[in-house]
Amino acid sequence: MNILAPSILSADFKNLGRQLIDCQSAGAQYIHIDIMDGVFVPSISFGLPVIKSIRDASDAVFDVHLMITNPIRYIKEFAAVGADIITFHQEAAPDPWAVIELIHSYGKKAGISIKPGTPIDVLEPYLKNVDMVLIMSVEPGFGGQKYIPSSTDKIRDLRNHLNTLGLKDLDIEVDGGIKTDNVEMVVNAGANVIVAGSAIFNGNVQANVKEFLTKIG
Ligand code: DX5
Ligand code: ZN
Repeated sequence: MNILAPSILSADFKNLGRQLIDCQSAGAQYIHIDIMDGVFVPSISFGLPVIKSIRDASDAVFDVHLMITNPIRYIKEFAAVGADIITFHQEAAPDPWAVIELIHSYGKKAGISIKPGTPIDVLEPYLKNVDMVLIMSVEPGFGGQKYIPSSTDKIRDLRNHLNTLGLKDLDIEVDGGIKTDNVEMVVNAGANVIVAGSAIFNGNVQANVKEFLTKIG
């Protein structure tokens, strides 16, 4: 089954608790939480206290996307505030093995992500040990950007490669520029965890979630 992960980066923060409930009651299974440090990416988003606070408002799967330099420094804290999946960037981690191991040591799922300019080959050593691969389909840092078309081939190549390795159950998440008019394309290419921010939180959240869920099946 395909999974929808609304990205709260585009949420109305004064109504965040309400919007989380709307996402979940409309059927979204995950909540995608973007953590930006102003170093790995130009923006600063929000941090640990926000996750801690919304953990009480939602029992959805918290899918935390760390866009931070040297992520190993903060895995313990993100696990403690209630992350269920912790995804870090290959480009930001000097020792990805150690990060994966640490995430697993807290009983959390580990994801590894690559930016649009990073080839999927760099993932090879880690594929058998991670729970999810996140393919960025925009440059990380901002919501509301346009989908980079070459991402579709990357997703397809990765899915084919996973199948040849016997890893057909490994999740491929796609993040950036996903709308109701291109989501079927990325699902057909092999993505099964779909992040959408601006397309969910601009307008009626529940109606948007339902429309996405109808399209992703
Ligand atoms: C971008 C973030 C995304 C962002 C997606 O760096 O990782 O999760 O919220 O926003 P949209 O769906 O608007 O492109
Ligand atoms: Zn993200």
